[in-house]
Amino acid sequence: MKFFIDTAKLADIKEAKDLGILDGVTTNPSLMAKEGIKGQQSVFDHYVKICELVKGDVSAEVIATDYKGIIAEGKELASLHPGIVVKVPMIKDGVKAIRYLSNQGIRTNCTLVFSAGQAILAGKAGATYVSPFIGRIDDQNWDGITLIAHIAQIYAIHGIQTQVLAASIRSSLHIVRCAEVGAQVVTAPLDAIMGLLKHPLTDIGLEKFLSDHKKVNAK
Ligand code: E4P
Repeated sequence: MKFFIDTAKLADIKEAKDLGILDGVTTNPSLMAKEGIKGQQSVFDHYVKICELVKGDVSAEVIATDYKGIIAEGKELASLHPGIVVKVPMIKDGVKAIRYLSNQGIRTNCTLVFSAGQAILAGKAGATYVSPFIGRIDDQNWDGITLIAHIAQIYAIHGIQTQVLAASIRSSLHIVRCAEVGAQVVTAPLDAIMGLLKHPLTDIGLEKFLSDHKKVNAK
């Protein structure tokens, strides 16, 4: 399973990269705004900075919601750096644009996916990635992980090449559950990724090993 980080914060991206486990980055307009990136040129420059920092796919989201606009913006984003994957919302014009961009060899990530039906359409349109938002589904008292399992199963049965990119991850446990049910990629904030490191028995065990070593080696 590939690990992407879901942020536009360069320091967090660097920290995950330094751990040696980072395969890519996803961003969205809210995450860019959170970092105070304003204006189209600054947004583009920030994408390039991220791409130069990470060797892997970097999802950059279109703002346009009409077919021609999505295509124009998608082409512009894709031209910024070879690592860019154009993130397109799951709407009618978005699906049409994914088909077009995919035919042009431009990689896409179909975002804001909340059902298996939407994921089937994204797959049919040739999306490189499909992003079901599991945390937001859980927020509605549905089960986001079950959706990941359904989509992974449907894609496997039908040989759909689109990769299931589990998004809207809220915890380290979400990451583990996504791995269990067959997501090919998870995109998570830094704290959920770093949370995978933690276990109290690791800390207790290490403390004991170090203190025993000290006792044996004390003069
Ligand atoms: C996906 O690519 C989105 O950027 C993201 O995972 C949304 O997560 P949120 O529900 O925490 O905003």
